[in-house]
Amino acid sequence: RAVAILKEFEEKCGTPILKLRQVADAMDVEMHAGLASEGGSKLNMLISFVDNLPTGDEEGLYYALDLGGTNFRVLRVHLGGKDNGVIGQEFEEVSIPPHLMTGSSDALFDFIAAALAKFVGSEPEGFHPPPGRQRELGFTFSFPVRQTSIASGTLIKWTKGFNIEDAVGEDVVGELTKSLEKIGLDMRVAALVNDTIGTLAGGRFYNQDVIAAVILGTGTNAAYVERAHAIPKWHGLIPKSGDMVINMEWGNFRSSHLPLTEYDQALDAESLNPGEQIFEKLISGMYLGEIVRRALLRMAEEADFFGDTVPPKLKVPFILRTPDMSAMHHDTTSDLRVVGNKLKDILEISNTSLKMRKIVVELCDIVATRGARLAAAGILGILKKIGRDTVKVGEKQNSVIALDGGLFEHYTKFRVCLESTLKELLGDEAAETIVIEHANDGSGIGAALLAASHSQYLGVEE
Ligand code: BG6
Ligand code: GLC
Repeated sequence: RAVAILKEFEEKCGTPILKLRQVADAMDVEMHAGLASEGGSKLNMLISFVDNLPTGDEEGLYYALDLGGTNFRVLRVHLGGKDNGVIGQEFEEVSIPPHLMTGSSDALFDFIAAALAKFVGSEPEGFHPPPGRQRELGFTFSFPVRQTSIASGTLIKWTKGFNIEDAVGEDVVGELTKSLEKIGLDMRVAALVNDTIGTLAGGRFYNQDVIAAVILGTGTNAAYVERAHAIPKWHGLIPKSGDMVINMEWGNFRSSHLPLTEYDQALDAESLNPGEQIFEKLISGMYLGEIVRRALLRMAEEADFFGDTVPPKLKVPFILRTPDMSAMHHDTTSDLRVVGNKLKDILEISNTSLKMRKIVVELCDIVATRGARLAAAGILGILKKIGRDTVKVGEKQNSVIALDGGLFEHYTKFRVCLESTLKELLGDEAAETIVIEHANDGSGIGAALLAASHSQYLGVEE
């Protein structure tokens, strides 16, 4: 009976190549719709106001904040210009107390400002700005923001584990600045960016072929370089570069071609944001372990998979985290000892047979494979939109996609599956021109780089 449930689940999660092509085509269509008009699509296709990506010439001392991944980070970056690159960087990681994720805007931003002030307090002498000069900051804020300029924008909604009602619709930079003023820290936010934009900028600094960035972490999202004249909803000037970077917010993508199961529907209905971020709920690190838990719970309830009683811990939402799922999925011991230990330690289920453990691994495989293959289809959608999914005659242009996030970094089977699926979708010839590059923690550096290129002191003599 448990095997029957597993098989049925596997079938519903199926992502044959044809389906993936439909998903990629739907992504392409939605991208056009989102660029055409505000609210034209589930894909927000947000204008980042970044029309110039780093060239490598950026220099100076900058701070950066990175909020929205697993950890909140404060960084200090010393940019050395063309010949020196990034001369130095220091960072500190602070975890956000869970109650602040669903509390008030003031409480969250006061906490961030305090952490930043503490970090500035440990500033080495060489980093002190000359008298009369403000410190400048690149702020990576990994949530959907409607930008009003490079350094301002209002929060559209929260995603992932955050839900702070009174911040929605507010200017994020205004909120941070208010908290900074309260504690007397004189710092100017020079750039407000999404983590995808930061990663794209950071990636471009090292490699001029980078044309898109994808985050696969707690949440998932992508950004890419669009031609400004291909954005009908952009009524501003066409920038000199001709480019505009777009934050897709692809986590909110949805299509009838997505293989949604009853488990996904229940997860969505009981989430902090029902009906929202459907693509994200199929792919990203916040949710994969939870989908596995739900399927296991069904097996326990309907097929006595763990004996006549349902293990109480199995009923606790989000108790099975994706890193634990990954550890089980990668278990190479002959008796699947890691799986056995995880089931015991996390779910308090002991005495599992090898057969049961194998079923658990299979479940992890089904969920991770579906997520990775869908992410690959999303990437194909972007490549289609910008005409880089096929090789034009006489032209062999390399396209690099910068990837970051804990899921991509640590979940090897997910990453390998994503890469092989993308190859399969592209075909041999085109696959040779597409490179996936891990941009480790690029978004902090990226934010500092964008702060540098939008500094108020640009062109002012030192
Ligand atoms: C980091 C980036 O490496 O990945 C962050 O610098 C990003 O900006 C994060 O938000 C996402 O990963 P995770 O796994 O921490 O959600
Ligand atoms: C969520 C956020 C998005 C972010 C992504 C990855 O989808 O809405 O802004 O880029 O997570 O962190």
